[in-house]
Amino acid sequence: MVQNRMIPEPCRIYEAMQQTPREVHFVVEAPKREPFRPEPGQFVMISIPGIGEAPISLAALPGEGAAEGTFEMLIRRAGRLTNLITRLKPGDTMYVRGPFGRRVTWEKFEGSNLILIAGGLGLAPLRPFVQRSLLHRELFRRIDILVGARAPEEILFKEDLASWSARRDDVRVLVSVDAARSTWSGRIGVITTLFDEIDADVEDAYAFICGPPVMYRHCLRKLLGMGLYENHLWMTLERRMKCGIGLCGNCQMNGLYVCQEGPLFSYREVRHLKEAV
Ligand SMILES: Cc1cc2nc3c(=O)[nH]c(=O)nc-3n(C[C@H](O)[C@H](O)[C@H](O)COP(=O)(O)OP(=O)(O)OC[C@H]3O[C@@H](n4cnc5c(N)ncnc54)[C@H](O)[C@@H]3O)c2cc1C
Ligand code: FES
Repeated sequence: MVQNRMIPEPCRIYEAMQQTPREVHFVVEAPKREPFRPEPGQFVMISIPGIGEAPISLAALPGEGAAEGTFEMLIRRAGRLTNLITRLKPGDTMYVRGPFGRRVTWEKFEGSNLILIAGGLGLAPLRPFVQRSLLHRELFRRIDILVGARAPEEILFKEDLASWSARRDDVRVLVSVDAARSTWSGRIGVITTLFDEIDADVEDAYAFICGPPVMYRHCLRKLLGMGLYENHLWMTLERRMKCGIGLCGNCQMNGLYVCQEGPLFSYREVRHLKEAV
């Protein structure tokens, strides 16, 4: 029902945690009109009436990283709407419709190594991939989680990174920053410098990349050079979106509707599009 999918539902904010000066981590009541069962890589449209609407990735799914009946998002202040939304407090309401985007089934990834790569804000959409794979740890072999940020103070979800790092079941977390002051004792360098430390057999791995477009080209080239199969490489592509359900054409990329056919794509599906990679 197209009409229903265009009508947002008021959802109560349960928690609003400032992660950095420009990013807020929200825990929000899930929409109730229809069963809210999103998959990793999907997004919602959030709005404030009279102000605007924006696509935002799910950063934790109900019953997985988030409690049943709730979901999580990380929102960066970018413009008019997100400036207002990031000032909302627990008890306030935001409007939500979705989830939208392609639902990728996970059976094909089972039995393989996973390489999960996030740059900057990309850790928000990547987080449900990590949470899903850790929840069903027995279904996967090695899990390497690679995270890049511009500076130590911009690293997101630090508590998650610490708890994932503390695991002893073949889960490895590697974090690097582009630049840092002398007080930083971690790795310094662009995210691809971490690839030499990947423990997994890359030829038997699936990789997922979420991050700014500039990161993709370098990551793709390096991973494919290391022997990763093209259809084992998955990435999220961001385009301007208005409807989120394939009606307005705003997100179209050479005939491909990113809001419906993506935003999660395998490299093989988009490698011919110069806008994509
Ligand atoms: C599928 C998808 C998932 C997203 N997930 C998140 C998320 O988890 N957290 C988050 O903080 N943001 C996310 N975004 C980006 C978010 O939608 C925009 O920042 C938001 O729409 C800005 O709205 P605004 O009214 O606050 O600012 P506007 O005034 O509309 O824009 C502010 C600035 O951001 C730029 N901008 C707006 N939208 C985009 C876009 N899609 N790509 C690149 N630049 C853009 C504008 O050019 C402008 O410079 C996502 C976008 C997409 C398409
Ligand atoms: S956002 Fe309207 S068609 Fe994709």
